[in-house]
Amino acid sequence: MLKGKTYLITGIADEHSLAMYVAKTIKENGGQVICTGLGVSKFHEDLSDKAKSFLNQNFKDFQDSVHQELGEDTLTEILDVSLDASIDDFCKKLETKKIKIDGFLHAIAMDKTIRNKVVKPLLDVTFKEFCDTMEVSAFSLISLTSHLFKNNLLNADASICSISYIAASKVTFHPYRNISIAKAALERITVELADEMGRKNGTRVNCIRFSPYMGSKAGNATLNQKDVEHAHRKSPLGNALPEDLAHEVLHLLRPNGRITGEIRYVDGGYNIMG
Ligand SMILES: NC(=O)c1ccc[n+]([C@@H]2O[C@H](COP(=O)([O-])OP(=O)(O)OC[C@H]3O[C@@H](n4cnc5c(N)ncnc54)[C@H](O)[C@@H]3O)[C@@H](O)[C@H]2O)c1
Repeated sequence: MLKGKTYLITGIADEHSLAMYVAKTIKENGGQVICTGLGVSKFHEDLSDKAKSFLNQNFKDFQDSVHQELGEDTLTEILDVSLDASIDDFCKKLETKKIKIDGFLHAIAMDKTIRNKVVKPLLDVTFKEFCDTMEVSAFSLISLTSHLFKNNLLNADASICSISYIAASKVTFHPYRNISIAKAALERITVELADEMGRKNGTRVNCIRFSPYMGSKAGNATLNQKDVEHAHRKSPLGNALPEDLAHEVLHLLRPNGRITGEIRYVDGGYNIMG
């Protein structure tokens, strides 16, 4: 289905990342992937030793898991979406290698107002915390798309997909506050970009609201087991699995689609319940 197509996969932290399931499904369907992960880049300034060692470990886990799950020949690059220069540098690397992509998965989120599963009340969130979360979790969809498009790296008929959840529009069993607002922005950006990029480049932009999943680093750091079980019981089909998400992303990324600007649920039907 994806023979001759190449997709950028962001957001792999390790083999349990949702993005890894998507990358595997793309490969199983004949597509190629380029994977980017968070690591120390030459554009980081004044990193503390702690931050440096976190980023180095993150990049090692990312690279090891990509090579193990997707093959040693899979291209891996550092990409920090909070640094414009890092996005620029990544684009230059694609140019040098003469690679144009047929779309990408945005699977990036960060919110420092959630610590050890405890969510800061919105009234205590600082402007900086608000902006940092917004920049990494929402604006990065614009900046990545923009850099790739302006550097002529997005093939016509490319397709972009990102991952959100129901908290973007409803206060849920586990209120996330700050990141929920960034997810609402991510979804609105999806719709606006779908219009702009559809007309400019024939590019589709969609977003999937997924079930709670504790297997990933982000999921494990933020979710409680009891909340995941609650969602599972409430959903007519039970919580959707990472494989279900990957299947739907594949559907949205495949060539010749006419679906764009959609915020779609892959959640076992949780969203229909009152
Ligand atoms: N786990 C869930 O329950 C769940 C549910 C719905 C949606 N999602 C969304 O799915 C996506 C992937 O999350 P996941 O659960 O696989 O967790 P994950 O921890 O595996 O992935 C999050 C990724 O974001 C990356 N990231 C953070 N800051 C970055 C930056 N500045 N530059 C580049 N990358 C950065 C991390 O390195 C990591 O790879 C996120 O957008 C998340 O909000 C997750």
